Amino acid sequence: MDNSVGKAQNLKKRYYVDKPGTEIKKQNRLIWAKARSVMEAGNYKYRKYGEKVRIKWSLFGLLIRIFGVLLKLTPFFKKGFANAQNIVLNKVDLYFDDLPAGFEGYTILHMTDLHLDSLPEMDKKICEKIDGLKVDLCVLTGDYRVGTRGGFKKILDMLHQIVPCIQQRDGIMAVLGNHDTCAMVEPFEMAGITMLVNETIDIDRGGSRISVTGLDDPYYYYGEQSLQALKESPEGFKIALVHAPSLFDLAADNGYSLYLTGHTHGGQICLPGGIPVIRHLRYGKKYYRGVWHYAEMTGYTGQGVGVVGIPVRFNTQSEITLLRLHRKK
Ligand SMILES: [Fe+2]
Repeated sequence: MDNSVGKAQNLKKRYYVDKPGTEIKKQNRLIWAKARSVMEAGNYKYRKYGEKVRIKWSLFGLLIRIFGVLLKLTPFFKKGFANAQNIVLNKVDLYFDDLPAGFEGYTILHMTDLHLDSLPEMDKKICEKIDGLKVDLCVLTGDYRVGTRGGFKKILDMLHQIVPCIQQRDGIMAVLGNHDTCAMVEPFEMAGITMLVNETIDIDRGGSRISVTGLDDPYYYYGEQSLQALKESPEGFKIALVHAPSLFDLAADNGYSLYLTGHTHGGQICLPGGIPVIRHLRYGKKYYRGVWHYAEMTGYTGQGVGVVGIPVRFNTQSEITLLRLHRKK
């Protein structure tokens, strides 16, 4: 396998309107960035079905801080902190009726909710965990930092370390999460990551084709461009990259076979048996972790590489996922 960073020779980019071309891409991104930056500044959550909710973090944040301080006084904090830093590589096989023959055994390295500043030396830990691993494609499904505002130089520096560690054939594709800003798109692309902003890319393999559509975050920043991108994607085997599971029904209605997502951290702090206390989801709550199915579509919700709030995990795992796609016999 010829693995070389930034080389994505099997890709053909489409845009959410059916008129491929640089000017269209620039124009669409400008329209999107303008809308996104207004939403970011307004401190509102914009969700599908027209819902717009003022972000009320003060009380929730205060409760988390109090809980965190109390937890630090107990031996549980040390245990939870160690759990959070123990990143596992989960290997998951997925089976499809409609996977093109050329993609049998296709491997996707999925990392979500990296929150690279949440724990010490996250870039080194990630590189160690994927050392020697060769994959066809790498996808990142958002939330690269802990905060939701301010600069992101440290995050960018760490991504510059991580990107060369990823041995892939068809590129690194990524979407934004609710902790991210539209200002990340260009510098991330310069770092060797293909950002999908309500856009679709085709991947060809031996005469077969699949396509990957990446949407903007639907938890805070849902916009009609996301739905448009889903509707105007080509027929065939389609993968959706979305930060949160909440667009599961729209993706299935538009013929997607696979939906890769995160945001929930698998609950991060769960009761014994992995029962989540908080999932941070309004739609698709039951799809908060692992493999799931809706109509004809399969979904995978990663538990996240990093953490937020209190830097601990209980009854969940910090996870990097190696997905392998198969045709059903
Ligand atoms: Fe998130």
